[in-house]
Amino acid sequence: MSTSKPWPEEWVPPVDPLPEMLADGREYHNVLFHDGDVTRPRGWHRENVAHLIELLRPHLGDGSIGLDYATGTGGSALPLLTACEESGINVTLALTDVMPSWFLTAHRMLHEHAGTHFFLLDLRSPMPLLGTFGENRFDFIVSASTIHLLPEKKLEGIFQELHGMLKPGGVLVFNSGDLEHPKRAESNAALLHDIYRVARDLLHEEPRYQSALLELKARDPEQHARVLKNHAVFPKPFSCCRLDEAVRKAGFVEELNETLVIDKARQDALDFIQVERLTGIAGAIAERNERRELIAEFMELAFAELVRRGEAEADHIRTFWNFGVYRKSS
Ligand SMILES: C[S@@+](CC[C@H](N)C(=O)[O-])C[C@H]1O[C@@H](n2cnc3c(N)ncnc32)[C@H](O)[C@@H]1O
Repeated sequence: MSTSKPWPEEWVPPVDPLPEMLADGREYHNVLFHDGDVTRPRGWHRENVAHLIELLRPHLGDGSIGLDYATGTGGSALPLLTACEESGINVTLALTDVMPSWFLTAHRMLHEHAGTHFFLLDLRSPMPLLGTFGENRFDFIVSASTIHLLPEKKLEGIFQELHGMLKPGGVLVFNSGDLEHPKRAESNAALLHDIYRVARDLLHEEPRYQSALLELKARDPEQHARVLKNHAVFPKPFSCCRLDEAVRKAGFVEELNETLVIDKARQDALDFIQVERLTGIAGAIAERNERRELIAEFMELAFAELVRRGEAEADHIRTFWNFGVYRKSS
């Protein structure tokens, strides 16, 4: 590999992972690909990643070294690596994430692909990327469906670090379906996670749920505190202007900023929220099936609300996506 410095030690996944760890990654993989079949991506996932790859494509060359910022289960890295292979472009890709369970799924799926290297980031470090990669630098950084999950108050620091990880002239290419944008209202589209926020908020107003929370607080205060933390799994979206400010402050130059409306099938939205980790929006209900049924009930109400707002039809939600290409000056 043509890194200027020795490549750091890679993540070694557990040899005998717990079944829950495997299930956590598999469940998320299955909401990106029908029945987990990588040849059958769900429409919204296929479309958003395809456009991201299209934007990254002109910046890829044979021998390029890239960083996938937040690989998750590998749902966006897989089509990227496949597109490179099909075009005969050899890239080296450092895959990164902070969550071992999802990253394990990515490792199992992608470790045999030529040029892949896996690094688990430690968020306790003030500079997780710099701490991991030392003096190695990248030609490109790609980040799919992650920027909106970053803590707003840390954006400046994170983009400064990403800027620092690029070689001069390198590019950062990202997409996100959950960033607020002035054009969204005129597009009659919702943000990707609006449906889950609406369902969650309606559910939390419900007396049945409030009683369950109160009962939990009295019985198990520590679990109650964990449940409240998990309620925030879909954070309040910040705006693309806020992102823009952080990116510019870090020294990036904007090359392209685009928006796209992508339909997400009703069933894909309903399946997504049933990933065990995401059912934390109803975490006060301990019994799994009961929790799922309650969420399904409130998803119906949330869907009707999006239809009323003009952001969904009977069988799909229009979701609003941001795409950006930013360059580090040469
Ligand atoms: C929605 S997934 C996207 C994964 C993948 N890129 C895709 O499109 O399928 C977001 C990922 O971001 C990771 N993540 C969240 N905060 C992060 C951070 N501060 N640094 C790195 N990864 C982070 C999560 O662990 C999760 O795997």
